[in-house]
Amino acid sequence: MHQDFLPPGIAVLTGAGISKESGIDTFRDEGGLWTRVDLEEVATIDAWFRDKKKVLDFYNETRRSFRAAHITPNEAHEALARLEREYGGEVTIITQNIDTLHEAAGSRKVIHMHGRDGEVRCMVCKTEFASDADLTPDSVCPNCQAVGELRPNIVWFGEMPMHLDEIYEVLERCGLFIAIGTSGEVYPAAGFVLHVRRRQPRARTVELNLEPTDNKTLFHEHIYGPATEIVPPYVTRILRQGWR
Ligand code: APR
Repeated sequence: MHQDFLPPGIAVLTGAGISKESGIDTFRDEGGLWTRVDLEEVATIDAWFRDKKKVLDFYNETRRSFRAAHITPNEAHEALARLEREYGGEVTIITQNIDTLHEAAGSRKVIHMHGRDGEVRCMVCKTEFASDADLTPDSVCPNCQAVGELRPNIVWFGEMPMHLDEIYEVLERCGLFIAIGTSGEVYPAAGFVLHVRRRQPRARTVELNLEPTDNKTLFHEHIYGPATEIVPPYVTRILRQGWR
């Protein structure tokens, strides 16, 4: 197909809600991770400098329980993979999730703005590599041999999200922006819908979530319910009828 005839791009922002029915807790719902664990103690850059062992123990434990649970993608992840396969234009998933369930479902264009589970980064030489091994304050970087500088390759509060230039480019060329399973409480992701509305006045914005969020008024369309029930029919609808 000639480039000029490609349909407008679709940008999909996903949050913890899309993985909830795969068995991964959200952060801010009742019983969510940050209602049980003090995020200031384990998920901030200050926490890392204050007490590396505490932070690393938390992520070692979380990773082990993830692996033990054999978590697999659900119908919502699969529907988005189908959207990418069957839609004629660009479909990009911008995820705040560190799980890799979108990839496991078959999505190819996935941007992990808060990093990825199963990856480690050295604070000194910045090398990133795949690893499922436990980290301790004595761990040695295999590249630069620095001691105690290896950390999960994820974004903590107080740090800049990853791939923002690429993300804003995707947002600025999309004709449809869909937010799925995110509370809209954490910036900059929470500001993406407003960015699209300002920079792409003709773009359509749709919120799919368990319940209305604080950003509700910025979306043209709202569909509420569990992701596994609302995402597959929405994808079928836009593949058959378009999104207007
Ligand atoms: N289907 C759809 N949506 C759901 C479901 C479900 N089954 N279950 C919960 N939700 C919705 C909730 O209603 C809520 O609006 O998912 C949203 C989850 O919100 P948060 O827990 O705040 O998760 P998220 O928006 O992804 O958080 C953003 O915060 O701590 C950081 O880095 C972490 O990436 C995360 C960021």
